[in-house]
Amino acid sequence: MSVDIMSVAPLGDKKNSDFFDEYRLKIFERRKKSGLEDLLKNICALVVQVETGDAISYLEELYLMTPYRLLCTYLNETHKIYFLESKPEFPHYIVLEPLESSFTDDLTRLNMLYPLARRKPNARYVGEVFAVDDLPEIRKLLESHNIRFHYPDETENKFFSNPHFYFTFPSSITGNRVGYTPRGSYDIQAMEIGECVQLTGAETNRLNEADARAREKGAVPLILGVDHMATRILSGEREDAILEFLTMSNYYFWGAYNIADQNSSTNVNRNGYVSDDKISPAKVFTANNTPSFVNSFENLPMPTEDFVRNFGRRMHHIAYEVVDGDHESGEKNVDFVVATLKGFGVNFLAHVVGECTDTPNLKQIFSKHSEYSVLITEYVERCFGYEGFFTKSNVAELTRAAGEDERYHHGNVFD
Ligand SMILES: [Fe+2]
Repeated sequence: MSVDIMSVAPLGDKKNSDFFDEYRLKIFERRKKSGLEDLLKNICALVVQVETGDAISYLEELYLMTPYRLLCTYLNETHKIYFLESKPEFPHYIVLEPLESSFTDDLTRLNMLYPLARRKPNARYVGEVFAVDDLPEIRKLLESHNIRFHYPDETENKFFSNPHFYFTFPSSITGNRVGYTPRGSYDIQAMEIGECVQLTGAETNRLNEADARAREKGAVPLILGVDHMATRILSGEREDAILEFLTMSNYYFWGAYNIADQNSSTNVNRNGYVSDDKISPAKVFTANNTPSFVNSFENLPMPTEDFVRNFGRRMHHIAYEVVDGDHESGEKNVDFVVATLKGFGVNFLAHVVGECTDTPNLKQIFSKHSEYSVLITEYVERCFGYEGFFTKSNVAELTRAAGEDERYHHGNVFD
């Protein structure tokens, strides 16, 4: 049964302004009246760009760390485009690799503004794509709500000029784009993405070997789909980031929690039309409670503000759900998954946080960020049927670990 977005009360203890509450409801009302609510469906793809020459290494990493496997590869005028799938009902994962290392587009220019992002100027989470009914109507409605789409001649990236996708301009609040594609024809073959190409024998061997390693240890079948994606934004833009995403999607604001220990808040938006978040993952925004300059009065922790100053507003991590239960080794599944991935050479920030003794709870961990995508991977196990989305104590520990790692690696971040 779907959530009634007009009447559902947001959860959490982070205080929102009257402005936020007023416009949250106005946006929902307009979505319903205009027809947007019915035309927008699930998130059907996540799009990530990597540097030229990094795609196969990134795919190897995804093979070891996630359930995503390559379906097909395309070539257009500017990019190689890799489509990966986990389960057919979960979003695809699309990896864009520029053909030339000198490739530059608006996302490169965005990365170049920030001291740590400019080391991998083309590596960036781009955004998510929604499956929709009536693509031209979606664009017309969203443009009438002042959502800015880019025109094909406004970007050098030919993937965004495809007539079967419409992508918005990168948000000035989050750095993310939102894409839309027709639900009925979300058929990769029909999307005219480019010429279908084969990997070289050596590339295929690398992926097959990664797949065999992952299978042999038995950790990958325990990693389900994407649970949520978390974007980091500036303190003062928290409410705007949520309202902007609600304007552009069929998601609702589930709730916001104050993570006092890390001087930040976690703001969760979910698709109320799916029974399983992995079909259309939750969209999370993390913001500091105070901007860095005011924070200097109290000198509280400010890992979120630091991240944005170092990397810009952007996606910080993608979380995968781990099957709840005990592994035959006697460990909880998430502990087994982490131990196995460590054996593959994957590095993690600190340790698994949260206890799963005999009551419903969450166990979570962050990997170090990928050298290829700059994204952290989170693993989350909801033990004994834990129904909540997160716990404040876990979020505080994870945020602290990510902040410490970033400080440690400042100036040395990709070593
Ligand atoms: Fe998370």
